[in-house]
Amino acid sequence: MSDSITIKNVIKSFNKKISVSGDKSISIRWVLFSSLADGVSSAKNLLISEDVIAAINAIKKLGIRSTFKNNEFKIYGQGIEGYKYKKNLTINAENSGTLGRLLLGLLINTSYPIKLVGDKSLSKRDFKRISDPLSKFGANFKLKNNKNLPLIINGSKNLNSIKYFEKKGSAQCKSSVIFAAMRSNGTTLIKAKKSRNHTELLCKHLKLPVLVKKKKNYDEIKIKKVKLIKPLNYKIPSDISSASFFIVLTALSKKSQLIIKNVNVNPSRTGVITILKKMGVNIKLINKRSYKGEQVSDIKVKSAKVIKSINCPTKLNSGAIDEFLIIFLVAAKAKGISHFKNLSELNQKESPRLKWSEYILNQMGVKTLSTKDSIKIFGNPKLKIDKKIIIKKYLKDHRIFMASVIAALCFGGVWNIHDKNSIKTSFPKFLKIINEIKK
Ligand code: S3P
Repeated sequence: MSDSITIKNVIKSFNKKISVSGDKSISIRWVLFSSLADGVSSAKNLLISEDVIAAINAIKKLGIRSTFKNNEFKIYGQGIEGYKYKKNLTINAENSGTLGRLLLGLLINTSYPIKLVGDKSLSKRDFKRISDPLSKFGANFKLKNNKNLPLIINGSKNLNSIKYFEKKGSAQCKSSVIFAAMRSNGTTLIKAKKSRNHTELLCKHLKLPVLVKKKKNYDEIKIKKVKLIKPLNYKIPSDISSASFFIVLTALSKKSQLIIKNVNVNPSRTGVITILKKMGVNIKLINKRSYKGEQVSDIKVKSAKVIKSINCPTKLNSGAIDEFLIIFLVAAKAKGISHFKNLSELNQKESPRLKWSEYILNQMGVKTLSTKDSIKIFGNPKLKIDKKIIIKKYLKDHRIFMASVIAALCFGGVWNIHDKNSIKTSFPKFLKIINEIKK
């Protein structure tokens, strides 16, 4: 069966209400916290995607059982020291940087060496950013090329606390160190550039000894050894990163309106909304409420009449890090030149996304100027594509597939986009929802 999709027509105007799948970051964290809990945790609306299934399979290899019945996931935690496994264990994080990196924090006190492997894309990504701080606790690492997977972690039962300055704005690095610190003696101190804070909010909800002090440009986090984690019952809100594809679809379509229900709008994740509003997109958060420390809302978005260019403030980068591919599509239709800077982290994702964005924009006939960590996009409010565009060999990066579909539906042309199955990692229902909107 062909794993490519062909799109030939722009989407007609629509007025719909949709729901997207559960948040990936929270789903993976729920699995990991629940695997350490004393007792049975349950989750509703857990994202059922390959990344989260990889997390479930990982904890299964560590002796932690789970069940899925009537849309409810249950994890049977055996306590913080409850992992049981044989020698020569290999865990496969598949495509998931979040799983691979956070799990290493939890494996810091392994009794036997454990091998961590991943797929082709994950095997190209940087794991030194995790092994460096985790080594300071007292664990040993062997990495391919000193940087990549496969790696072997050899834990220690006698772990020191550390001081760690996280400068990249990486929630994965920060969270991995928080997990390791939870298993260590003394008090670990993290100074972290702002990034998504789901791990800290879950620690607070679970009343763990993790203290966060918010400063202007960074957070100070103090972590003490954790003795007990209570079961975590959670109704996972929808993922703003998945919702964003439809926000942009609506903004760039004519005479359309969309409501997306029940989305996680944690301020550390809503960079995309701030940026698009600055560009003139009409987005409203309605029915805002809080849930276990997170914020949840319905999102209402309308077609944009005029799109303004933006000189994007770099402080918004980390809160929009997974959405730049589609933010760039909005910039392609803006009046004027948009400038996005300090984006080297974009090339550290499932594929080098800054490079891929520029390639796709150029295929669409959009002029760009780039450096290794920035891009200028020369917008054209009348942009229409009337050529054939083929998107392939992009390391099966799910977000490149979905961004290309949105571009095809908004700007026209004939698009042949390969590797449809890439959406299974984060958003298996993506094409089904596109069809719902088209109906
Ligand atoms: C994630 C953090 C981000 C993000 C990724 C999910 C997380 O990565 O890009 O999709 O769940 O912690 P970095 O922390 O490396 O920026």
